Amino acid sequence: MFIHYKLTIVKKLDNSCDAASGHSSGGTTRRNFLSQIGLASAGITLAPLLTSVKEVEPELPDAAPAEITTIHLTINGKKQALDLDSRVTLLDALREKLSLPGSKKGCDHGQCGACTVLVNGRRINSCLTLVAMCDGAEVTTIEGLAQDDRLHPMQEAFLKHDGFQCGYCTPGQICSAVGLVKEAHAHTDAEIRELMSGNICRCGAYQNILAAIKEVQNA
Ligand code: FES
Ligand code: FES
Repeated sequence: MFIHYKLTIVKKLDNSCDAASGHSSGGTTRRNFLSQIGLASAGITLAPLLTSVKEVEPELPDAAPAEITTIHLTINGKKQALDLDSRVTLLDALREKLSLPGSKKGCDHGQCGACTVLVNGRRINSCLTLVAMCDGAEVTTIEGLAQDDRLHPMQEAFLKHDGFQCGYCTPGQICSAVGLVKEAHAHTDAEIRELMSGNICRCGAYQNILAAIKEVQNA
């Protein structure tokens, strides 16, 4: 049945070829005809694709010009006046304009807590905060917790309890822990875990972080 169907098609093609060229239905002519059909089919198949590629060419809008704003901040006890694009985040301002790379950029989407700093004593994700929103604020980063040569008690406790492994999340964990102790809302292990849940540790040092925070809480 299948062979019969195939023979019928080839025969029809031969006839079409003869009709189209006026030549005999020899093998060369049939091949030419088949290759023409193939090319024509490819053209038919690709044409819409090529058209659609042309159609989706994006037209990018011109970037809005930078709007430079003067922001006054007290960063780690030092007053600063900064001329910055109002779209800059606090995290980028700290890391790229103020040479304070202690606060880490993990996700840049408010999901990992690596960028946690204290603004007026409250912990915030600096990747989600525009620096323009902090005008007049006091900002404390991990670099500002130690006093002279003395580490902050939370830093000491993290060292004592091995509250870190790779250390990438640690600046954010420590700033967050300092804020949590100041808030005084966490009274049990479960509450500490819950209120620290915005700070992710990929190394899984949670048990040791908990021990460090409890030591500072109970001091
Ligand atoms: S970098 Fe800010 S929350 Fe992850
Ligand atoms: S110590 Fe490695 S991510 Fe927390």
